[in-house]
Amino acid sequence: MVSVTARAPAKIIWFGEHFVVLGNPAIVSSINIYATVHITPLGAGGFVIESRNLGLKYDGEGDPGRLKPFIRVIEVFRGKGFFKPFHAIIDSKIPIGSGMGSSAATAVAFTAGLARFLGIDVSLDDISKIAFEAEKIVHGRPSGIDNTIATYGGFIYYEKGSFKKLKVRWPREYMLIVADTGIERSTKKAVEAVLSRYKRRMRIMERVYEAAREIVGEAMRALENGDMESLGELMNINHGLLVSIGVAIPETEAIVHNAIRYGALGAKITGAGMGGSVMILARREDINNIIRSIRKYVKKIYKVRPTSKGVRVLTK
Ligand code: PMV
Repeated sequence: MVSVTARAPAKIIWFGEHFVVLGNPAIVSSINIYATVHITPLGAGGFVIESRNLGLKYDGEGDPGRLKPFIRVIEVFRGKGFFKPFHAIIDSKIPIGSGMGSSAATAVAFTAGLARFLGIDVSLDDISKIAFEAEKIVHGRPSGIDNTIATYGGFIYYEKGSFKKLKVRWPREYMLIVADTGIERSTKKAVEAVLSRYKRRMRIMERVYEAAREIVGEAMRALENGDMESLGELMNINHGLLVSIGVAIPETEAIVHNAIRYGALGAKITGAGMGGSVMILARREDINNIIRSIRKYVKKIYKVRPTSKGVRVLTK
């Protein structure tokens, strides 16, 4: 019987995180950090799931804890009458709880890998939808943006469950950094806090959400034209809105302010905030100064690039 390896990319949300939960549009891209899942046949019955990153192993007995989203995927396939004993190893280079979509990428890679292992013919849309079921367990009320980008890759404009791929011009002299504060937080809690502020301050928040929508429209044009100066400025405005909905913390602010001070065109929280990561757009020549200026506030700095591919499955 065959072994399967599947991998799915991390993501950064460029514009519209949180606002997307209430139906606003957002722009997201895949980046070159990956979650990989290896699936091999298991001699005995049942299954074993091992997460190298979480240091957890589950064989179907008792509470799966943080591996529960994967159990959800197995249930979906079992519900359709598909199962074969397997051993899955999840090995992700995407830091957990950092806003880079580790849970969605692992869920997408697991779904695509297991489907192939079980011999089920699934479309990308099916993979994204099943991974979304797993995401609901982690996030409570996910917008669906994370599973979509981990499945399809590239640059995506996302709105209310539908998306379109964007053609982006990326001038060579610009680079992207993701600065991970190392402060893990729950996306679910961040989303709940934002929604409760929204309910308390509805009239003000409606205007903030409207501004966020405008930013996405202008950002699409900037990305398509390779207008990185405008893109940076729009990132800075988007960050301001994220501050206003309450997801900034001192560490993310220190990173954003220093990055800008040392020449970044744009810097903003990416993902749920309240910890997590800050993304920085800068000219190549300014990167080292920026990195030096933010080093003391971060756990890890990733030089990343947007990629064009989503989930991939290999069979051995
Ligand atoms: O921080 P992450 O990677 O979990 O991103 C969450 C993005 C939110 O917009 C805050 C939530 C969502 O489901 O879209």
